Amino acid sequence: MLRSLFLAAAGSARLERLVESAPVSKGMVRRFVAGGSAEEAMRASRELADDGLAISLDHLGEDTETAEQARAARDEYVSLLTRLHDSGLTPAAEVSVKLSALGQRLDEKLARENARAICAAAAEAGTTVTLDAEDHTTTDATLETLLELRKDFPGTGAVLQAYLRRTEGDCRELAVAGSRVRLCKGAYAEPESVAFQSPLDVDKSYVRCLNILMSGAGYPMVATHDPRLIAIAEDRARWFDRSTGEYEFQLLYGVRPEEQARLAGGGHTVRVYLPYGRQWYGYLMRRLAERPANVAFFVKAVSSR
Ligand code: FDA
Repeated sequence: MLRSLFLAAAGSARLERLVESAPVSKGMVRRFVAGGSAEEAMRASRELADDGLAISLDHLGEDTETAEQARAARDEYVSLLTRLHDSGLTPAAEVSVKLSALGQRLDEKLARENARAICAAAAEAGTTVTLDAEDHTTTDATLETLLELRKDFPGTGAVLQAYLRRTEGDCRELAVAGSRVRLCKGAYAEPESVAFQSPLDVDKSYVRCLNILMSGAGYPMVATHDPRLIAIAEDRARWFDRSTGEYEFQLLYGVRPEEQARLAGGGHTVRVYLPYGRQWYGYLMRRLAERPANVAFFVKAVSSR
């Protein structure tokens, strides 16, 4: 119920203006977002890298409305990649990109060209790009773009969402040599026709997908904070004889930092997904939807004013 409310709120432009202007949002945002500028993102990346963590930076922004905005998002990534390279943060740092921020809803070709420019900049910087997964209406287009990009930039990664009924099939297609696949549960409000609704069914699907990825020839990126799924992933890695460099764990910035340190301390590659930028509203609403404790934190911040 709470989840649906926050996911509905994520799509409301009116609420967005209200929440963004409320000073109380700042503390909550700081917990999950590195800051508004590339400068702040670079600083947070350096701290994570010094702690032995890998990073995937996300310049916040989705549902771009004009081609100019899409090109500006592209330019932000290109300049960020140059800075990461010049600061010696690549290859530890890569970038995550939402095709909607690059204009996917306006013009698929434009989004693809923008993504290609980012992949070229990443290759130049000695690192990679992972394409985020958005709502199910974009899955086909995003996977088509991925296959196109992988022809020239084979390191380009995909994100698959275990809550989608189609995802086991997508895992099979993508569990091939050189293919980087980030497996997450999925963060959008999706209808029953396309997505499992109960947490148990989503978890069961996650394990089936994990089995396919861990037993396949690609590079699985296990993106979850769920202790049970992390333990199952560790078990599957042992079972399928994968050494620690042959898969990685990924967690969101600000979520379970002690678990990030524990996994890294155990010799695992751990990548922290690090968002930055001013368009944090949709991202924050999805984080609130995921966990009642986050909502309590938010409400406490509001009521203490
Ligand atoms: P879930 O939210 O069910 O949490 C399971 C358990 O984890 C909790 O019961 C608790 O034990 C623990 N936990 C979770 N949050 C915690 C917290 N704040 N503090 C302490 N314990 C906590 N989604 C998407 O649709 N498209 C995408 O491209 C991406 N990309 C992405 C990248 C990365 C690196 C990650 C980690 C996640 C995504 N996601 C995503 C988001 C993903 O789909 C999902 O919504 C969140 O990761 C939350 O799901 P969990 O797997 O953590 O489980």
